[in-house]
Amino acid sequence: MIDSYGRSIDYLRISVTDRCNLRCQYCMPQGGVQSIPHQEILTLEELLRLCRLFASLGVRKIKVTGGEPLVRKQVASFIGHLKEIDGIEQVTLTSNGLALERCLPELQAAGLDGINISLDTIRREVFTFLTGTDGLPMVLSSLQKAIESGIPVKINCVPILGMNEEDIVPIASFAQKGVKAVRFIELMPMGLACRFQGLPSSVVQELLKTAYGPLCPSQAKLGNGPAQYYKIAGFHGQIGFIDPMSHRFCQSCNRLRLTANGRLKLCLAHEAGADLKELLRDPHYSDEQILIKIKETVWQKPLQHAFEQVPEEGAQANMFRIGG
Ligand code: 5AD
Ligand code: SF4
Repeated sequence: MIDSYGRSIDYLRISVTDRCNLRCQYCMPQGGVQSIPHQEILTLEELLRLCRLFASLGVRKIKVTGGEPLVRKQVASFIGHLKEIDGIEQVTLTSNGLALERCLPELQAAGLDGINISLDTIRREVFTFLTGTDGLPMVLSSLQKAIESGIPVKINCVPILGMNEEDIVPIASFAQKGVKAVRFIELMPMGLACRFQGLPSSVVQELLKTAYGPLCPSQAKLGNGPAQYYKIAGFHGQIGFIDPMSHRFCQSCNRLRLTANGRLKLCLAHEAGADLKELLRDPHYSDEQILIKIKETVWQKPLQHAFEQVPEEGAQANMFRIGG
């Protein structure tokens, strides 16, 4: 599928739930979160129908995300079904790691192709402060088990000023310990994240150079996305940087997002999209009509994000609703 700027769209991120078992301060409100009512969340059957349609339009890779995808029942079997869809070459998962260890055998049996685990700190008290849960031991144990499972693992870390600077160097060292890549993601100013200041990648790079020596640009194309990868001497895994604020990668953006309540989103930072749930649940709409709607919508995919213009705490703009 090609959009109006000639970009080839082959990657779909689906949020299977807006719920999460953590409350990261930059993502979820600590108190009550207004969750999407259950009946508005797409059923797994509805999701599979949509994924088949997307695959017929050229989507080849699917990322299952959340909230925390593993809080949804049957996610592993859902992944198994995604893997059976004609044209789908790769299905990967994001997880905060809290419930991952328990699910690993099923995920492996389902044929999962990769896991991205979020890890912002390796200090237990900071983890508890940042996420509202004393869960670091579980996450680290899941991470270890995931590495041992042989499923390729990447770590995602969001560096935040005054929060986790001192974790950056030790977290990078997981790239010496069986993790395929450790990626540092610049904090995007959306929702609650606006209360924090992310560290720019340039600062993170300096910290790593001081600790480990030069970072050599790597040609590796490790994932579906926009990370720039580097090698450090003696590290098997790569170090990646995702700099969403720089616009650098909007020109080659290949992705679409589907929210848990069935909205097709074209860009993290734009409202443009379509409510596919309505169509799915209206018996008058055939697969062909839904395909037309998807194609029309994709044609509106914006050229680039506009984070600079949406600095307010937009209640809708939270990651757990959109699916990181
Ligand atoms: N900016 C950057 N990354 C974010 N994440 C959640 N909110 C933001 C934000 N505002 C990250 C999580 C997780 C991934 C799914 O998205 O830390 O690693
Ligand atoms: Fe949950 Fe991820 Fe948001 Fe943290 S960042 S609250 S783990 S969805």
